[in-house]
Formats: sequence, structure tokens, C-alpha cells
Amino acid sequence: MKNIACIILAAGRGTRMNSKTPKALIEVHSKPMLEYLTDSIKDVGISKIALVLGYGAAEIKKRFKDFDVVHQDKLLGSGDAVNSAKKYFHGYKGDVLVVCSDTPLIKSQTLRDLINAHREGGYSATVLTAALTDPAGYGRILRNEEGKVVRIVEDKDADRYEEVIKEINVGAYCFEKEALFSNIGKIKVNKKKNEYYLTDIIDILKKSNAKIGSFTTEDSSECSGINSRIGLVEASRIIKKRILEDLMKNGVTIVDTASTFIDSNVKIGMDTVIHPHTIIEENVEIAEDCSVGPYAHIRSGTKIAKGVEIGNFVELVRTEVGAGCKIKHKTYLGDAVLGKNINIGAGTITANYDGKNKNQTIIKDNAFIGVGSILIAPVTIGKNAVVGAGSVVTKKHDVRDGETVIGIPARSLKKKKNGPSRLI
Ligand code: UD1
Ligand code: CA
Repeated sequence: MKNIACIILAAGRGTRMNSKTPKALIEVHSKPMLEYLTDSIKDVGISKIALVLGYGAAEIKKRFKDFDVVHQDKLLGSGDAVNSAKKYFHGYKGDVLVVCSDTPLIKSQTLRDLINAHREGGYSATVLTAALTDPAGYGRILRNEEGKVVRIVEDKDADRYEEVIKEINVGAYCFEKEALFSNIGKIKVNKKKNEYYLTDIIDILKKSNAKIGSFTTEDSSECSGINSRIGLVEASRIIKKRILEDLMKNGVTIVDTASTFIDSNVKIGMDTVIHPHTIIEENVEIAEDCSVGPYAHIRSGTKIAKGVEIGNFVELVRTEVGAGCKIKHKTYLGDAVLGKNINIGAGTITANYDGKNKNQTIIKDNAFIGVGSILIAPVTIGKNAVVGAGSVVTKKHDVRDGETVIGIPARSLKKKKNGPSRLI
């Protein structure tokens, strides 16, 4: 989108979270709260972004290195936070989207709709609103007889007539830049909270005959402002639901959505089935026609190729699994690279950490790892090799292609012509 910039308000202390971590960095469904919003803003195609920071600024900055930071010296409210960004917009012409870092559920399409409504109506300011059955805690939208927005009243300041209004301020606005910055300084301090409320600018603009618009989202789940740990769980639930629904739309079967946890940035192919009690972390790729779980934990950096079967109590981390492999019971594979059609017996463990480094285990095509084997990395198991049940394959004692090893430590099993096999 052209001629649109953005201010993200993230200076607030988030007192109600009762946490040592700055609110913007608190994770919702394993991603910092702020990142949902920055992803949506990038998705809208906005590149000029001012991140207003105050409490915990240094920590937030470290994580969001690519953003231009504006400092709010004293936390004097959302109005003052926007005012802190005034200089940053010197010389800029266009519209300014203002969003709050604690509303991570707003979708990029809704932000686009808000901007479009603002432009089509030729408004000075446009407010994103939603209708809630329980509007408590949110600013209420006051409209005149013609249905036009005239003011926003904060929950704490609402009288008993205003309190029952169901239409709320989601906390996202689109402003014409001049209208915003020539009026932001006119906001008066709210005596109850000793803060400058951004929401008061609507009344100021209206009184100067500016046109105020609104865009109402049908999906009220978008407006959850996270102010407490209870809000955090609610937001997490909504994000989880969205992730699972997107996967199901793309042809993935999720047998039980209640017990399945899948992070964002997970790719799963068509006709793969995810069984109950499975956890899949971010940056995992699973191809088509796989079966995962029940009770599987697939951790970050794992890539699973087509037609793989992963069963009960299997944990995989930073591991590549080739097509057609079977890893069906009680297994831990870390930093492993598996070729195709490998059978991993129940209870197989890769000892990938030696106390200092994480080491790699390579298992080549068609190998067979017997039950209860321990593979001490770094080690390679060759093509068509067999590791007998209960073996411990020690560090750097690679198993050659076609070789059978067994025992603790594992040794080669040679087949004698017309005689019993023996260990060598
Ligand atoms: C705000 C809105 C309210 C709306 C709700 C939606 C105001 C006055 N009220 O209320 O109408 O319904 O969001 O969730 O804006 N911030 C700063 N600096 C400050 C204070 C706050 O940057 O000095 C930031 C916060 O980090 C937050 C945002 O501004 O991202 C909103 O502040 P918050 O205190 O959470 O406002 P609410 O009471 O939730
Ligand atoms: Ca809030």
C-alpha cells in the first residue's frame, strides 16, 4: 500500500500482567505478543514504522532490530506516546495507522479494510470498532443521531448510559497525518489516570468539523486487548484455533483440536494426519501423507518427508527424516539426518549432546535400527545396515553399508559359512 505509515504503541508497562518481562515480549502461543502485529503490518505492505518504546525499551529493541524506535520519555498515556513520534514523521505526507502492541489478534486484512474505509470516506480519522457482548474494560464508541462517531469514552469515565454501549474501540486507528499531529498536542490530561488519552483526539477533531469514520470488524475475536494473564490464555486459544483451521483448510486432518498444539510457521502437507496430544513447534515442515502421534513432540528445525509414520512418545529435534521412514514408539532423535525407508525400533535414542557440543547422527537409506539402541553421536549408520536390538553404537564407530552390528559396544556380526555367527 502507498502513502501509509504506522505507529506501534509499545511503551506501556503492562502493570496488570505482573511480569518481569516487558509486555510486548511476553509470548502468546510461543511468539512475542508484538511480533503478531509487526507481521500483520508488514503483510499490509507498510514499511515506514515507528515503534514507540518506553518500559523495557532496550530488551524490546534487541528483539525487533529492524524497526525505527521512538522513545517516550515518561509514560504519560497513549496520546503522549503518539505525540512522541511527531518528529519522526517530519516531512512525511500521507496516512498514519496507529496500533497498540497488546492487540495481537488484528488480522492484516482488517487493517487493510480500515485504511481503505478511511480513504474512500475521505476521513481525517477512522476508528476500528467491534461489537462485544461484554464490552467491560474497553473504550466505548459514541455516535450521534446520524450514526456518525463523535467521541470515545474510556471504561473508567463511562456513565451508566455509556457503559451499556456494546460497540468498542479496538485500539487501531487510521489518521490523515496533518489532522493527527496538528491536534495531538491539544489533548488534555485525564485527571482520573493522570494520562493523555489518544482516544480524546476524536472529540477534538469532531469539534473542529473534521470527518470521522469507522470500520467495524465482524470478527470480535480480533479485538482482545491483552491486559492480564487471563487475557493471554484467551488470545492464545484464538491463535491456536486459527492455526489449526488454516491447516485443516489446506487438507491436514487434526484428529483432536483440543489436545493438539501447533505453533505458527509450521508447514504440513495434504492428507497428513495429526493424532491427539501432539505438539509441533515453530519452523517444522511435514510433507504429505504422513501420520504423526498420538503423543508426539516435533521440535523446531525438524523436516519430515512424504509418507513418514511417527508414533507414540516420539521426540524429534533439528532432525531430517527421509520419505517412508517409520519411527513408531518411544524414540528421541536429535540433530539426526535420516535417509529413506529406515525403520527406527522402539526406544531408540540418539545421544547427541556430549556435555559441550550437539553432534550429528547420520542414518542412511534402508537401515534397520533394532529396539532399545543407543547411537552416540557423531556417528554414521550405513545403507542397509542393521543395528541389533539393545546395541550401543559408540562415537565415531561408523557402521558400514550393509554391515550388522550388535552389543555394547556394538561390534560387527560376521556370518560364517555353515557355522554360527560370531562377533568380531
Ligand atoms: C486502550 C484504549 C481503549 C481501547 C483499548 C483496546 C486509550 C486511552 N484507550 O485502552 O479505548 O478500547 O486500548 O485494547 O488508548 N502506551 C504507551 N505509552 C503510555 C501508555 C500506553 O505506549 O504511556 C501503549 C501501551 O503499550 C498499549 C497502548 O498504548 O500498547 C494502549 O495502552 P493501554 O494502557 O493498554 O490502554 P487500555 O486501557 O487497554
Ligand atoms: Ca491495553
